[in-house]
Amino acid sequence: MPYLLVAGLVGACSDDGTSNGTETSSAGADLYAQTCASCHGDDLRGTDQGPSHLSQVYAPDHHPDATFRMAIRQGTPAHHWDFGDMPPIEGLNDDEVELLIAYIREQQEIHGFEPYPPP
Ligand code: HEC
Repeated sequence: MPYLLVAGLVGACSDDGTSNGTETSSAGADLYAQTCASCHGDDLRGTDQGPSHLSQVYAPDHHPDATFRMAIRQGTPAHHWDFGDMPPIEGLNDDEVELLIAYIREQQEIHGFEPYPPP
């Protein structure tokens, strides 16, 4: 399981608030590619299976981190889009969930948001 490899890295960069996030980001990027990209896209911009995480609707003021944790753990019924339901994503520990959320938030900051609803 590739997750074990990633879990090993996490302890090495515990967040003291001064880190620049580079290690976190690459571990998060790997996890994202393995567990989310098939539906949400390698570039976070979505596929025909799932929406873009760079949509304005996923900004922290619309979907705070708690919503992301819930979606990963429990899945979410289709309610914003027509892609169908998101299933629960199995096999991630708490650290990996936090890495994924940090990665998505970082990418949102870097790339900015797409309008919602899409034009
Ligand atoms: C099998 C496809 C699939 C996979 C894999 C998947 N998602 Fe989703 N996800 C969806 C779909 C479809 C929606 C849109 C539901 C809707 O209509 O609002 C969604 C919505 C979400 C939402 C919004 C939840 C809400 O409350 O509105 C979050 C957050 C999310 N996904 C995060 C993730 C993360 C993080 C991963 C990887 C760990 C992931 N997803 C993997 C299909 C997927």
